[in-house]
Amino acid sequence: MARFLILLSTAVHLVSATLVGELSKELIKEGLVSIDENGIPKTSCMVLLSNGTSTPQECPVIPGFGPQGVGCFALWNADRLIEQGCFSRQEISLRNQCKKKTCHSRRKQKDVSFCCCHGPLCNGKFTQ
Ligand SMILES: *[C@@H]1O[C@H](CO)[C@@H](O)[C@H](O)[C@H]1NC(C)=O
Repeated sequence: MARFLILLSTAVHLVSATLVGELSKELIKEGLVSIDENGIPKTSCMVLLSNGTSTPQECPVIPGFGPQGVGCFALWNADRLIEQGCFSRQEISLRNQCKKKTCHSRRKQKDVSFCCCHGPLCNGKFTQ
């Protein structure tokens, strides 16, 4: 038990050292984001490869100015999937753009649709 508590406090310390923001803390609590061995939040997303197939990949938070988070995105038009992958941005930007669990576009820009979401492989399905 004591050993477990020591491990736990070490993990908490590492997380605070990387400036995990409010959104990431919330997503970790909800199981939509996990933490790697260095205390960096990460998720998994479907990523479109150059040969046109999609595959699951690990997506870490990429450091930047202010609290950063990570989600998944998809970009498509009527004909095809254009891009799909990791979406690491400032938390404030993720709050505005990403839904939890489902990748559902908020608005259509001309004929291209974009969605962003939180949750493992949540961008495997995307809807207008
Ligand atoms: C696409 O590329 C990936 C990675 O190189 C490979 O594993 C996969 O088999 C390829 N799929 C097709 C349909 O070529």
